[in-house]
Amino acid sequence: MDLYEYQAKELFARHGVPVPRGRVASTPQEARMAAEELKTATVIKAQVKTGGRGKAGGVRPAPGPASAEAEALRVLGMDIKGHTARTVLVEQATVPFEEYYAAYLVDRANRTFLAMVSSEGGMDIEEVAATRPEALARMPVDPAVGVDRETARLLAGRAGLPEEVQGAVADVLVALWRVLVEEDALLVEVNPLACTSGGRVLALDGKVTLDDNAAFRHDHEAFADPPAADGTAGLEARAKARGLNYVKLDGSVGVIGNGAGLVMSTLDVVAYAGSGAGGARPANFLDIGGGASAQVMADALEIVLSDQDVRAVLVNVFGGITACDAVANGIVSALAMLGEQGVRHPIVVRLDGNNAEAGRAILDAARHPLVRVVTTMDDAAELAARLAAA
Ligand SMILES: Nc1ncnc2c1ncn2[C@@H]1O[C@H](COP(=O)(O)OP(=O)(O)O)[C@@H](O)[C@H]1O
Ligand SMILES: [Mg+2]
Repeated sequence: MDLYEYQAKELFARHGVPVPRGRVASTPQEARMAAEELKTATVIKAQVKTGGRGKAGGVRPAPGPASAEAEALRVLGMDIKGHTARTVLVEQATVPFEEYYAAYLVDRANRTFLAMVSSEGGMDIEEVAATRPEALARMPVDPAVGVDRETARLLAGRAGLPEEVQGAVADVLVALWRVLVEEDALLVEVNPLACTSGGRVLALDGKVTLDDNAAFRHDHEAFADPPAADGTAGLEARAKARGLNYVKLDGSVGVIGNGAGLVMSTLDVVAYAGSGAGGARPANFLDIGGGASAQVMADALEIVLSDQDVRAVLVNVFGGITACDAVANGIVSALAMLGEQGVRHPIVVRLDGNNAEAGRAILDAARHPLVRVVTTMDDAAELAARLAAA
């Protein structure tokens, strides 16, 4: 999960990374009140999960409450690279004397963490890395050792930071490593890391990506965007709430399978079959995982069938520990649970593997008017694509 800047800064503050004082506002009036509370000149910053807000006009100085209100009016609702600013951060204006760059990230290629520090922050760090690689100090970080003050100091030195700020920057680098470790982040980035004329070092921007696999160890729920009630995000949120791995795609053949690999190859086969049958494409990815109880199958069918774009569904299951007869019983009960109203499109079922024969026999015996049992994956995809295009 990517965080908004204000959320990243909340985590920074928790672990001792200095940040300017700020308040979040979702209306111009709230922005004015925030500026009144802060009692300083402020900057109004669009909260969107993308960079380059400054260049896009989403970071605007506001010397007093009246201009905070006026600037918030301009920034709220602004579209930045396809992201709409629904809130702004009203933040104490801090005139940076120097702008540096600091980040920790997972370096998958080298199976380690990587620290990156530069004296040339503020601008596009990709550009610095490309045109002046020597201005970006990189150092692998052994997660078992971490970043102590000595290492941090070495990093600051290698990045070519002025001698007199190296100590203060090193303190921030140590605290920033704590953010990564203690919050289970995959990325923490500060650009710019500002140094004021008074020698104070603080994070003027913040980007954090949390590791969703570690979510159970934290109280990060509050950071999640409220689930959308309808549309793609709504479907995905509903699927997630039921423990299903669902990704909406743009075709018309609903796909349900067990195991990510099988579902991925089903998408390929459907796309291939569709190219010869009216251009039908997969409508989604949905992996029901290992178990295929009636409830799981009902949830999966319900999600897929409530997608307005779906015209036919392909259920492709390879029986393993959960045998095909159990899956078939699951499908039959699911269809009964959903009723006529819930199932209005043809469902092509391909069962293979453990107890496939028995599974097919159960579906045949149920004689559901919309269910078609097909033996091979290719034939099943072919039929589903044809039904969707019809
Ligand atoms: N609180 C602040 N006070 C003064 N200037 C700021 C403040 N926050 C950001 N800026 C300036 O605006 C620039 C862009 O802001 P930043 O938060 O880095 O957004 P982005 O990276 O999305 O453009 C910064 O490089 C900095 O110069
Ligand atoms: Mg920035």
